Amino acid sequence: MHIHIFDTPADAATALARRVADALAQRPAIVLGLPTGRTPVAMYAELRRLHAAGEADFSRAETFNLDEFAGVEPSHPGSFREYMETHLFRAVNLQRNRIHFLDGAAADLDAECRRYENEIEASGGIDLQVLGIGANGHIGFNEPGDTLIAVTHRVTLADTTRRDNAALFGGDPARVPREALSMGMGTILKAGALILVAMGERKAKCIERTINGPITTQLPASFLQLHRCADLYLDREAARLL
Ligand code: GLP
Repeated sequence: MHIHIFDTPADAATALARRVADALAQRPAIVLGLPTGRTPVAMYAELRRLHAAGEADFSRAETFNLDEFAGVEPSHPGSFREYMETHLFRAVNLQRNRIHFLDGAAADLDAECRRYENEIEASGGIDLQVLGIGANGHIGFNEPGDTLIAVTHRVTLADTTRRDNAALFGGDPARVPREALSMGMGTILKAGALILVAMGERKAKCIERTINGPITTQLPASFLQLHRCADLYLDREAARLL
């Protein structure tokens, strides 16, 4: 894994957005895998700025997001789809039919997971997948546990994850859905390149274990050690224990 440490979260976000813009320039029809969460907010702001400045053209790009809450309409203010509309989709020139998303409100959630996995396959696969990390080491919504599922699947969210996502649901963890849909660790590891971004002291421990610990289903991020092209973008705080 290649580790990049930046003085501030803003520096990390700027470098990451620049890396995505460079990838777009090199390969305009790139298939991007995208994350949500607080961490990538600044990266998306910088991508919007680069797009407005004519330095990031999404016209031929395709996107797949990592995950979505179950039982939530795409237009719900707490959905990851709505997050992406706000932070990126409405502000750049992505073609609507090249935006792929899990539909948490689908009638048959297992069929929805299969549809998504097939759609990723049909696109030729994800070229560049950007990832955040949960404080418990989850990736997408692949939670720590005795087993991991390789393909896109339904997940029961950990209580800590529901608390971490409460801001999207009026600050009340009880209103965060108990279930979600997520790409699997296999789906993620099939991407051509991975970039994991983590900021802040809260992530320091799981980042240290991601890099130096054993590969274990108890820390899904540790599976990144198996990838041929994985980069970590960290601020000083997240890198504190390295
Ligand atoms: C959610 C998302 C993850 C994300 C994580 C971290 O659980 N499903 O993909 O990495 O939040 O969020 P934050 O960046 O807010 O710490």
